[in-house]
Amino acid sequence: MREWTRDERYQRFEEVPQDKLEALRAQVQHSNYKQVFHIQPESGLLNDPNGLIYFNGEYHISHQWFPLGAVHGLKYWYNYTSEDLVHFEPHGPILKPDTKNDSHGVYSGSAFEYDNHLYYMYTGNARDGEWQRHASQLIAKVNQDKTISKFPKPVISQPPEGYTEHFRDPKVFKKEDTYYAIIGAQNIHQNGRVVLYRSTDIVHWQFMGEIETKLTEFGYMWECPDYFNLDGFDILMFCPQGIEPDGDKFNNIYQAGYIIGQLDVDNLTMNHADFNELDNGFDFYAPQSFIDAQGQRVLIGWMGLPDVNYPTDEENWAHCLTIPRVLSIEDGKLKQRPIKALQQLRFNEETALGYANKYTRQLHPYEGKQYELIIDVLENETTELYFELRSSRRNSTLIKYNKREQKLTLDRNESGPLPNPVEGTSRSTILDTPLSQLQIFIDTSSIEIFCNDGERVMTARIFPDEDATGIKTSTESGQAYLKFTKYELKEG
Ligand code: FRU
Repeated sequence: MREWTRDERYQRFEEVPQDKLEALRAQVQHSNYKQVFHIQPESGLLNDPNGLIYFNGEYHISHQWFPLGAVHGLKYWYNYTSEDLVHFEPHGPILKPDTKNDSHGVYSGSAFEYDNHLYYMYTGNARDGEWQRHASQLIAKVNQDKTISKFPKPVISQPPEGYTEHFRDPKVFKKEDTYYAIIGAQNIHQNGRVVLYRSTDIVHWQFMGEIETKLTEFGYMWECPDYFNLDGFDILMFCPQGIEPDGDKFNNIYQAGYIIGQLDVDNLTMNHADFNELDNGFDFYAPQSFIDAQGQRVLIGWMGLPDVNYPTDEENWAHCLTIPRVLSIEDGKLKQRPIKALQQLRFNEETALGYANKYTRQLHPYEGKQYELIIDVLENETTELYFELRSSRRNSTLIKYNKREQKLTLDRNESGPLPNPVEGTSRSTILDTPLSQLQIFIDTSSIEIFCNDGERVMTARIFPDEDATGIKTSTESGQAYLKFTKYELKEG
């Protein structure tokens, strides 16, 4: 793809002629890779989910947005509301880079309720004449008519002493009557950190310090932190940058994961177990959580990564959000399951029972590119079990399970054009328990695999041909008895 000049990347979309915007939107509409039940950009590039909240009977979902192409340029927040997290009503840009402090981007942030009103705290990205970055944390009130009133000056005007300008992505949470903001940071020794502020009036924010963890040397920057208590455990999520691969772990350019334990907010210390990735696939970053109408903790991520090019870049658009996942902790472990409301999209249920063996079997002819497939593994006497999805003569997206190693692998080597640069074409994870179930969501250009009822998730963008609709099973040796339940999924 051609290089964008700085001027092009920082062009305001309000100043771009309507017909040019129309042409960009048409490219998305006509794309063979256009998603059907995922939030994707109306035009240009989508990244982090922002400002997620259930407020006044509806969900508010925004995402980072550069409207003019598949590059990280001047960022806006694009906003949707939803009644069920399945159908979304678009409202266009809600936060715009229109003040001195956010002149070079309204960066990521979160939503909170104060005095019965909806507010956003987000990072204002500004550049000076020497193109030096200045990060401050800003608050905007969302008025009833969806207009925005930004506070006149930053509530946190600069990084605390000892930290660099890589200081962003405030996530606000409330404990008793106090509001806290947890913010991604980098100390002057180039170590990723998270810092905490508190406030009782949302105007004055007091710096408390950084949260002490065991991860003192764990990447150069931690983006998009989130903190919550779930089923008696404290979870600190963040996205460290600069972690070396370690076997099956940390193979993507940047990681998105969590530590689980107990956080002492007053002493700013966290006792915790090892850092775990939230997703063992390829394309998952910058997730944010919120509480849904039923009181469940729900997570949505960006199905993409910074500094990676994707096949749709050629069509001037990129990325989508993941489907929402419900989080819980069972036996001390984090589980992630697709939200139940997605069942509304199901139609044309088909089921099949049968053996997989070393002869490749096409499940049945299937024309379609959007479906949910549940595979129950009722008996497994194989060495390796194979499922090929979105398969055709040219394409196949392979899920492989090695019984002895209890290892699940997603291989997109033959899935079609690939994002780049990306290390390797497969990702693997060792399961906690033998494979019993895969619940797979296929959209036009993505796959999300939920394994063993919430034990692991593997997410990837894939870009197969339009005729790649087959589903095949086979084994290396031995046989498995399987139950397939398939639903076609309609537009969200
Ligand atoms: C993560 C991120 C955030 C930042 C935003 C800018 O993908 O880099 O740290 O606020 O994207 O778009």
